[in-house]
Amino acid sequence: MAALQPQQYRVVRTVKLSIVILAAGQGKRMKSDLPKVVQPLAGRPLLRHVIDAAESLQPETIDVVYGHGGDQVRSRLEGAAVGWILQAEQLGTGHAVMQAMPAVPDANLALILYGDVPLIRRETLAQLVAMAGPKAMSLLTVELPDPTGYGRIVRDAQGRVRRIVEQKDATRRELKIREGNTGVMCVPAKLLRRWLGRLRNDNAQKEYYLTDIIAMAVKEKVKVAPLVAPTVAEVLGINDKLQLAEVEAEYRRLRARELMLAGVTLADPARIDVRGELVTGRDVFIDVNAVFEGRVVLGDRVRIGPGCVLRDASIGADTQVHAHCVIESATIGRDCSIGPFSRARPTSQLADRVHIGNFVEVKNSQLGDDSKANHLAYVGDAAVGARVNIGAGTIVANYDGANKHRTTIGDDAHTGSNSVLVAPISVGAGATVGAGSTVTREVPAGKLTVARAKQVTLAHWQRPRKQAK
Ligand code: UD1
Ligand code: CA
Repeated sequence: MAALQPQQYRVVRTVKLSIVILAAGQGKRMKSDLPKVVQPLAGRPLLRHVIDAAESLQPETIDVVYGHGGDQVRSRLEGAAVGWILQAEQLGTGHAVMQAMPAVPDANLALILYGDVPLIRRETLAQLVAMAGPKAMSLLTVELPDPTGYGRIVRDAQGRVRRIVEQKDATRRELKIREGNTGVMCVPAKLLRRWLGRLRNDNAQKEYYLTDIIAMAVKEKVKVAPLVAPTVAEVLGINDKLQLAEVEAEYRRLRARELMLAGVTLADPARIDVRGELVTGRDVFIDVNAVFEGRVVLGDRVRIGPGCVLRDASIGADTQVHAHCVIESATIGRDCSIGPFSRARPTSQLADRVHIGNFVEVKNSQLGDDSKANHLAYVGDAAVGARVNIGAGTIVANYDGANKHRTTIGDDAHTGSNSVLVAPISVGAGATVGAGSTVTREVPAGKLTVARAKQVTLAHWQRPRKQAK
């Protein structure tokens, strides 16, 4: 099986790295109570994606400059191993980086990232960092058909970067430049600190522009190495819900592409959402509109039908999951048949060749090899043996209104249609529960147990007639 997440490897670097993520912007255009950087992309906050990319570089420090909705941002990223730095007032990108500098050692390279640019790739960042050094900074740029809104990269006749001019400060000639500033840069910390101290806000926006350090570097003859982003997608910033959806679509394409390159057949790469880690065997087929969250493992030749949702699940080889199943925190064995319309809830374990069919819900239960619940059943808190047949409409009544109780069903037992097993109870091996029974006591092994009213026929009964008005 091939893991689709980038493999972790040790980064060997001579100069240590400090990463600063700017995330203080409000994101007014989101028109949302949720701060922009915690809006979900593929089910996780935008900022989480950026922190993951940052962590993959194994830096010495990661600091996030936050501002708007600070509590919400921090609580939604609980557990992230980053420093949190408050920028109470947003006075510009240069001002934001300055807030983080006390956490950045002089000897390090400082890499600047943005909390609203979530698709940035580790490979590109690693390349950018490699281009910087104690006496050289590097800058990630992007060639755009329409760079409106971006700072423009001003180069000289030899193609060397001279400075960056912001859209609002640019001349008409500069506005024609199609190379835009992504904002991502890698700068020796000692120099960065010095340059930030010299920033002024005498510009169109009255802001401290980080971008002004480029001209300072050029003036001091510090090398400015530009890297044109290999793909536009990875430098896409998000300001509104439209851009959020576009980046989500891009993310979807990327994940679908990885899957197909790993040998998975997708009915439609535009209609699959992989929001976590998906590990796949050979010759897996996934039909349209499947959603994968958390860590999902699909064995060889597994088929996933249309409209399925799988979260933290493992599916054994040759198992078929038919249309519209929801499987969460469950382990399913080999050669099983699941669905259509089945639900496996947390901590269910299905062994090999198990069938669960339409409108069957299994919760916190184990089903042994070759057991079947083909239609309309609820199996909760139950240990079910091998070759058991759970009839249509069987309900394990596990809840007495206050507590949950367990049920055990022995090997080869059969439960008839519409039977209710009131827990705690055990059904012996080879037992049969008659259809329509409500059983509240032990069901002995190997015997038929029936617990229902006897059928009677009233010979002289007459149907009431409508009274004449
Ligand atoms: C910035 C760049 C511009 C570049 C563009 C790319 C500057 C001066 N300009 O412009 O050259 O083309 O990004 O999108 O750097 N932020 C803070 N605190 C602040 C200001 C900004 O944390 O005080 C954060 C924002 O949350 C955002 C990022 O920095 O994530 C960029 O800020 P934004 O105001 O969008 O900069 P732009 O004007 O778009
Ligand atoms: Ca912006």
